[in-house]
Amino acid sequence: MVARRLGRRKAPLREDFMLKEQKKVDEGFDTKTMIYLGKFFNKGIISRLEFRTATGKESDIYIATAGPAIANKYKFVMLKFFRIETSLFVNMTDYILGDPRFNGITSSKAGIINVWCRKEYGNLLIAEKCGVKAPKPFMSNGSILAMEFIGDKNGVPAPPLCKAAVRDPKAVLDSVLADMKKLYAAQLVHADISEYNILMHKGKPYLIDFGQAVSIKHPNAEEFLRRDTSNLLQYFSKRYGIKIGVEEAVNFITGSGSVSPS
Ligand SMILES: Nc1ncnc2c1ncn2[C@@H]1O[C@H](COP(=O)(O)OP(=O)(O)O)[C@@H](O)[C@H]1O
Ligand SMILES: [Mg+2]
Repeated sequence: MVARRLGRRKAPLREDFMLKEQKKVDEGFDTKTMIYLGKFFNKGIISRLEFRTATGKESDIYIATAGPAIANKYKFVMLKFFRIETSLFVNMTDYILGDPRFNGITSSKAGIINVWCRKEYGNLLIAEKCGVKAPKPFMSNGSILAMEFIGDKNGVPAPPLCKAAVRDPKAVLDSVLADMKKLYAAQLVHADISEYNILMHKGKPYLIDFGQAVSIKHPNAEEFLRRDTSNLLQYFSKRYGIKIGVEEAVNFITGSGSVSPS
């Protein structure tokens, strides 16, 4: 500021610069994270880390250039770094402990993050298998998850539903409900459906953020499904005036109602 007022800016000392960069690395990646990251290079999933594109509730999202193992099909990879110090950490246990898939797991912080990361990877695999539009998972290691980048060929990520221009909102809602039905048939409830966790790509909705998705055997699965459905319908009702009953939609998703709600 002073330098600018004087009309002349002193070039930063190299040491200052190095310290700043070091601090960035210290804040972003600790040694453990660097070791986790190394494996993504070694396995050919990524060849270069590009830049941070988003900071989520409990993660930092980076774009990387696809590595030789997948470069024939993909240009970019999305890396999700789960933060150990997340304040939502306590909530994570609620979603993991009631899920029979994770019986007998550790309750240490690093352990929970590890399980959470693998859980999102596994959930994305289920989504892929049952034909839901969601990022393809590539690999999970420690607190890092690599998945398909949803966005254009220049590396611009797809916008969330709340920021996208939607031409046919009814078709988008239908598509999300159909994907929720497919997930349910594959025994999964997303449990965090919102206009932020749906990305609009080439006019189609893609579900993301599967960390908290639970097995339908989780004691709160029904409640999570009802909440997801209600949030989704509320959004489409408020923004686009599309009115569908929650009951009707839940019946459609769980298969007890045969008629498509819209
Ligand atoms: N596969 C992806 N492709 C493009 N953008 C993504 C992808 N995954 C996440 N993002 C972006 O990063 C943000 C945070 O990711 P998300 O999985 O929702 O993390 P959090 O659990 O921290 O909310 C998203 O809102 C979205 O903008
Ligand atoms: Mg999210």
